[in-house]
Amino acid sequence: MAEGRISDEEIQKVREASDIVALMGERSPMRQRGRDFWCCCPVHNEKTPSCKVDPSTQLWHCFGCGEGGDIFHYLMKVDGMSFPEAVQFLADKAHIVLTHSGKDDGGASNSRKARLKAVCAETADFYHTQLMRVKNKETDAARAYLSGRNLGGAVPKEWTLGFAPGSGALVRHLGSKGFKADEMVEANVALKGDNGRVRDRFYNRIMFPIRDIQGDVIAFGGRIIGSGQPKYLNSQETPLFHKSTVLYGLDKAKATMATTGVAIVVEGYTDVIALHRAGVTNAVATLGTALTKQHIRVLSRHAKNQIVYLFDGDEAGQRAADRALQFIDDSITPEAGRTQIDLCAVTLPDNLDPADFVEQRGAVALQQCIAGAKPLLEYGIERRLAKHDLMTAEGRARAFTDALAVLAPIKGSLLAKDYAVQIAGRTRTREEDALDHLARLKTQKAGEAETMVVKADIAPEPAASGLSQQETSRRKFERQLLMLCAQNPRMGLDHAESLAVTHWHERVHETLAESILDTLAADSNASAGTVITRATECVPVAGSILTGSYRPQEQESVDLARLADYLCEELALGDLDESIDTMKMQMTQAGASAEEKDFIFQTIVALQKDAIARRKAHKPLI
Ligand code: UTP
Ligand code: MN
Repeated sequence: MAEGRISDEEIQKVREASDIVALMGERSPMRQRGRDFWCCCPVHNEKTPSCKVDPSTQLWHCFGCGEGGDIFHYLMKVDGMSFPEAVQFLADKAHIVLTHSGKDDGGASNSRKARLKAVCAETADFYHTQLMRVKNKETDAARAYLSGRNLGGAVPKEWTLGFAPGSGALVRHLGSKGFKADEMVEANVALKGDNGRVRDRFYNRIMFPIRDIQGDVIAFGGRIIGSGQPKYLNSQETPLFHKSTVLYGLDKAKATMATTGVAIVVEGYTDVIALHRAGVTNAVATLGTALTKQHIRVLSRHAKNQIVYLFDGDEAGQRAADRALQFIDDSITPEAGRTQIDLCAVTLPDNLDPADFVEQRGAVALQQCIAGAKPLLEYGIERRLAKHDLMTAEGRARAFTDALAVLAPIKGSLLAKDYAVQIAGRTRTREEDALDHLARLKTQKAGEAETMVVKADIAPEPAASGLSQQETSRRKFERQLLMLCAQNPRMGLDHAESLAVTHWHERVHETLAESILDTLAADSNASAGTVITRATECVPVAGSILTGSYRPQEQESVDLARLADYLCEELALGDLDESIDTMKMQMTQAGASAEEKDFIFQTIVALQKDAIARRKAHKPLI
């Protein structure tokens, strides 16, 4: 961090991203009583816990000695940090890069934010008036479109929906109210053209104001009327608006979250509105990004018991569901000691999104669906099992490895063992084999669960002397795929599954793959620059690895997508060979009955057949 005052906005961001229960729980065990947590006082010496930690206010207080405060104060008091050091410490933990606020603004940052909020409020008002009062061909079309989608009646008023006419109308209006061009640009409701002229950012779109938790407008989502691209245009990040923490509808949903203890997360603006109309008033949506850990933190302050992720039944929803499995980490096991919020998931049937579902089948059916949500672990395992044909030996063998892989991040826990036994039952495998396989899984996130920060001391393994030819080329393929995905984030999204399931042969590759996935999960539109910068924050050498050239000269003319497919298949085949080898080892192990050996043998034969067929189809690139 450069010299200078840390802006309030950044302090707020760090605060939002931190969790006092987890932080204090690192030093002394936390016990939950009601909605609060109790531990032994970090300041005075005691044997019975008299220090209360409140997860909703994020404050601590010791009834023994009277000491207490917020999370920054805790670090200052207990670790003797200065305030900026405490902020920096937590920022590092949460992976937030601090920039100083500049020399001249002192306390100005708050008034600047207030000014930007005023721009947003005036803009929302202007758009709303356009939709409600102005009569012309465009606004008629907007109103007709909303009515046709069940978003007429009281909805526009309740959600302050609006219409953006474009053609400079907003800029002129804001100007007449005394706002300056650079304020409009900074709030991202206007853009500065090459000629220096300022124009409206949104035109001919239906506008959904995005509000912060207090209900102040901080950004906008604009939907095209009818079909066209992009379907939604959202505000970019501004000093007010951070996509990875904001949830659409939270200002309206927080009350019900507090009373029910449950938060429902859906994908779209219209889904939130439809759910609230159907009486499900604890629904919120992410803003075109996957759910992030910051979102989960924000939600768990309001909903104490459960977050239900309601996925669309379409393909995109299914991809989102797969990505959600990243939230499985050791913080969700009972051994973690602190009572964590339950993460549950359910996919809507028949390709429906929540809005369609309510419209077609009603609120009661939707409530039933939500009630059927399963814990994320179970949901993930079921999804993996469902991908395979459990009627065949091959299918069961693949289902076995695939489903067990879900447990990797928590493999040491009793919970994992419990699920492993269940998987064994479903795939007709011996329990011992499942437990054995579980024990040998590579942990992906151990110790990184709370912060997503990866230890910075991972360097590439020492120069690969003595590696077999095969191993050398395997590692080269791994790097090639990582570079390709980092430099072309679209490819990373398309091959997220491969990035997630590959058994990386170098620890640093595994870390890079995780980092790429995390960045894309937080923002599917992340640029190559962002992907690589984030990775560098995890592993210092990421920059030099990922920016390298992923195309050997002879592959120069090969289409990018084809190259990516090729690399993924190459790695998958390598992994397949490895699991065949593992099974061969299992067969020779003592203790297996003839019947079991026969089963393993049949499986090996089937996997080998599969491997041979896939190798044959795996044509060289040139
Ligand atoms: P959906 O495509 O599911 O939109 O994207 P939706 O909410 O169902 O919208 P309707 O019902 O077709 O009007 C889900 C969310 O992803 C983001 C938006 O936040 C949207 O609500 N998104 C989608 C974008 O940001 N840009 C897009 O082009 C599309
Ligand atoms: Mn949708």
